[in-house]
Amino acid sequence: MIFKNTCCSFLRLYLILVACLVFQRCAYANHTSTLVVDASGSSGRPIPETLFGIFFEEINHAGAGGLWAELVNNRGFEAGGTRVPSNIEPWTIVGQESEIFIETQRSSCFEHNKVALKMDVLCDNCHDGVGISNPGFWGMNIVQGKKYKVVFFVRSKAPIDMKVSFRKTEGGGILASSNIKASASEVSKWKRMETTLVADASSSKSSLYLTTTKKGVIWLDQVSAMPLDTFKGHGFRSDLVNMLLVLKPAFFRFPGGCFIEGQTLRNAFRWKDSVGPWEQRPGHFGDVWSYWTDDGLGYFEGLQLAEDIGAKPLWVFNNGISHTDEVDTSVITPFVQDALDGIEFARGTATSTWGSLRASMGHPKPFDLKYVAVGNEDCGKKNYLGNYLAFYKAIKHAYPDIQIISNCDASAKPLDHPADLYDYHTYLHEYQHMFNNAHAFDKTPRDGPKAFVSEYALIGDKEAKLGTLLGAVSEAGFLIGLERNSDHVIMASYAPLFVNANDRKWNPDAIVFNSDQAYGTPSYWVQFMFKESNGATFLKSQLRTPDPNSVVASAILWENSHNKRSYLRIKVANVGDYQVNLNILLDGIESSNLSKATKTVLTSANALDENNFANPKKIVPKRSPLESPGKEINVILPPISLTVFDLLKTQ
Ligand code: AHR
Repeated sequence: MIFKNTCCSFLRLYLILVACLVFQRCAYANHTSTLVVDASGSSGRPIPETLFGIFFEEINHAGAGGLWAELVNNRGFEAGGTRVPSNIEPWTIVGQESEIFIETQRSSCFEHNKVALKMDVLCDNCHDGVGISNPGFWGMNIVQGKKYKVVFFVRSKAPIDMKVSFRKTEGGGILASSNIKASASEVSKWKRMETTLVADASSSKSSLYLTTTKKGVIWLDQVSAMPLDTFKGHGFRSDLVNMLLVLKPAFFRFPGGCFIEGQTLRNAFRWKDSVGPWEQRPGHFGDVWSYWTDDGLGYFEGLQLAEDIGAKPLWVFNNGISHTDEVDTSVITPFVQDALDGIEFARGTATSTWGSLRASMGHPKPFDLKYVAVGNEDCGKKNYLGNYLAFYKAIKHAYPDIQIISNCDASAKPLDHPADLYDYHTYLHEYQHMFNNAHAFDKTPRDGPKAFVSEYALIGDKEAKLGTLLGAVSEAGFLIGLERNSDHVIMASYAPLFVNANDRKWNPDAIVFNSDQAYGTPSYWVQFMFKESNGATFLKSQLRTPDPNSVVASAILWENSHNKRSYLRIKVANVGDYQVNLNILLDGIESSNLSKATKTVLTSANALDENNFANPKKIVPKRSPLESPGKEINVILPPISLTVFDLLKTQ
């Protein structure tokens, strides 16, 4: 009985609350908000140059089968690890089982990746050829007229006559091919073979074939197929890098995330195994996101990409802690030395021990590494503090200018250890919570380390799904809060950056791709709309609104680096499901000094609308001229929208 009464009371309370919310929302519909901006700039303060950047993690096949243009998946037949029989997936046999027998053996010429494939061809004059094929990562994208460099290592006791080809995965139509012949003496020891294929036709779902019609035994290892056309010739998929460039990211955090921790230390990312010639890299099984990587996109490539896109590299390394095991602080020294070696690899002279390896890879000039993070999300772990302090002491001693980032959140209470920055991650399930999280740093004391919001996103099947408008606008509200707090929050990045649509380990993500297409989710476009904030002047502004839970705004002055002209930019996020009349009042400026005003809006018909491959531009920012800009601007903000106003300031 008591229980029943309690239930009834709760139900009544719940209904009252719902009614309040509904009626309050209705009361807000079509309300007018007023934004007063001091456009003179005299009361403004600088926003850090570093504020908005990107975070790249090897998750969702973001690198292997994504940003890294290598087409072959499991190029060393090593996906089963160092033992044999190894896992050769996704390689498959071409021909009948009666014509060919394959097995893995530990007979490679590469010391760190001993597994090779032995191919015993049983037929002679095998009609169409037998051998092996690799579909890459859910199909290779082969484009007519483009060139592809295929490299592999081979050994045989007899002369070889092999065909290297790209074929349609379904139907087997040949798109490009080349023949490789060598005498017995040439291949009696492991030999590197190289050929360039030019595609006669296109298919986004192709496979690489290595076949022969000759009876005999052939050993194969380290098979690579790379398009010649990659970003700056550095091995990155140009379409994906171009999407990064558009964001003008100030920094590039990499390579994880949980990826650097590992589920177990045994499977954590080890930078030393990811540098040097690609064919000598052992590759590893990333056990957090459950896939094998050949580590073509290794530590060097991360540093290179940061440089190529004009972003500061920010290296996250393992601190002796994985998701399930931890190194005791008393024996952490080898891990500390490993991190110091990694920094020397990036910054040392071309004659230093590790700097010389970097130089041998084609980059004698040191990389501009100024930020390192000691671990990822490890603060609560038993040995974190002890391990962290050992890293901190050694790195500060050797590289006093390096900014060291702690995993411990200091937004609400001060750190008990020294750090230049602290890492703050926020994944929230409710849009209102994300929107209001704009206040997370309002009360943080300013005398401690600065904040790095290195991972944020609205997640969950209810509101965020694969990347909804609602999620993105709530994140815009959060970012406006970060701009307001940018005297303390000096870096921020959305996570995750990429997802290969064939391996959705984590949703949503900023950029979705498959072998030949890519699009930005609304969260990507929100970042695009914040890209002018780095190094801009944050202007004083005041928003008078009856619904601060839905409407939030900021104003900046930014300089266009191309024409060197100054622009006033006002951003307003409206997460409410009704339109808002907005009056913008510009103080400290004359109407005659404003021109060329535009309005850019990110919105859609429904809060939960998303982009997809069929309609990749459903939700993208749409720009239009703003008629007669003056000191007072009256505009209507659509429901669930982010609107950016840009005005050219002539004086
Ligand atoms: O961004 C996805 C994951 O979220 C990262 O690997 C980790 O740092 C966080 O838990």
